[in-house]
Amino acid sequence: MSDIKNPSANQMWGGHYSQGPAETMARINASIDVDKALYRQDIAGSTAHCQMLAAQGILPQADADAILKGLEQVLGEIESGDFTYSQSLEDIHMHVEARLKDIIGEASGRLHTARSRNDQVATDFRLWVRDAIDHLDGELKNLQLALLARAEEHSHTVMPGFTHLQVAQPVTLGHHLMAYVEMFSRDRGRFQDARKRLNESPLGAAALAGTSFPLDRHATAKALGFDRPTANSLDSVAARDFALEFLAASAITAQHLSRFAEELIIWSSSQFGFIKLSESFTSGSSIMPQKRNPDGAELVRGKSGRVFGALISLLTTCKGLTLAYNKDLQEDKEPVFDAADTLAICLQVTAGMVSDFTANTARMRESAMSGYSTATDLADWLVRSLNIPFRDAHHITGRAVKLAEGKGVRLDELSLAELQSVHSGITQDVFSVLTVEASVASRKSYGGTAPELVQQAAKTFRENLK
Ligand code: ARG
Repeated sequence: MSDIKNPSANQMWGGHYSQGPAETMARINASIDVDKALYRQDIAGSTAHCQMLAAQGILPQADADAILKGLEQVLGEIESGDFTYSQSLEDIHMHVEARLKDIIGEASGRLHTARSRNDQVATDFRLWVRDAIDHLDGELKNLQLALLARAEEHSHTVMPGFTHLQVAQPVTLGHHLMAYVEMFSRDRGRFQDARKRLNESPLGAAALAGTSFPLDRHATAKALGFDRPTANSLDSVAARDFALEFLAASAITAQHLSRFAEELIIWSSSQFGFIKLSESFTSGSSIMPQKRNPDGAELVRGKSGRVFGALISLLTTCKGLTLAYNKDLQEDKEPVFDAADTLAICLQVTAGMVSDFTANTARMRESAMSGYSTATDLADWLVRSLNIPFRDAHHITGRAVKLAEGKGVRLDELSLAELQSVHSGITQDVFSVLTVEASVASRKSYGGTAPELVQQAAKTFRENLK
């Protein structure tokens, strides 16, 4: 580096350049504002690489010691905020190396032996995504615990279950909340699957073809917590499907959060009045003094768009790329970082809203009794007690619903004589299945909404939670 004649050319790669880039080129090329988030992973990767180079006799131990000490100092400076960033140094890799040179001098130049920024950035990025997965897994688990607590509390709380957002059959609030616990379990599973495939080390693939130095890629892989080195050097530097899988899992999680947010918004409307969101996650209106707007839930619903966008963004960036590295890939980080941050805050806010909403159980019960929600229970009773085929029972029940509708009453408010006018075989016993409590208690098939099953599901989940 010391023999580069033209000081305006790039100090890292400008040996055959006589001038620096256009100002606009420098701006489009610089990624430091985004990839500075990789500093910890970058220094960890360099540390592992340096130790391996020394162990393999590729680097004199004295230089390695100086480099390792210098890297530690750079890490400390960045973490304490005592570090100067410059657009001309392009990215985090060059920042760390340039600062290392300031600190230890020429020996710093040996660190990049048998390495390229291509395998370096692929390694850093995998490490970052792996950390993000572990962090998001913790957030997902917190949300599940919040849901679980409310599900246990409300295992007996009856609310309407909907299809088409029309009252269908009574369910319990606990059962409804446990449905999301299931979704978030699968989300965690998707992140774990992605983590398994991600956990291979690209370090040592060098620019694209591997290197002539006698590296020990297994050693660096192990030092960085990877399961093994990647098997193909071209794939190592070109592949970003680990980030795509992360974004796909993130997008699905965001979509689950958005559905739930939508429900919280609907439930908290005065028309529904099922729940009241706490002051902590709502805001008032500057003009309408009575308002409590569900901003937290709306933002969770709205921010799902950013996460979906991140997936589409990276898919599009990668789709036309020939092997191996292309600079387009520098665009990979921003969507991933943004999706991870967005998802983390959405998970935290959702957990907060779950923990402190108040449930209007009387309102939910009353609503569950509307819409002839126990019509299926009547049909099932006809099948069970009078041995009527279900299709016929369905028809008879339809007539009972029509009769009740005409009189403006619920099914259980019809008299026995009125019910017998629909089918003569109906007895007093039918009333035992027409309440919403009886309805939910009877739904004991595996995975059903019966309160005892909800409690059991919550208990099982708690026991399996590591
Ligand atoms: N900042 C670059 C990126 O994020 C590092 C790799 C640069 N490699 C290169 N051949 N120019 O992709």
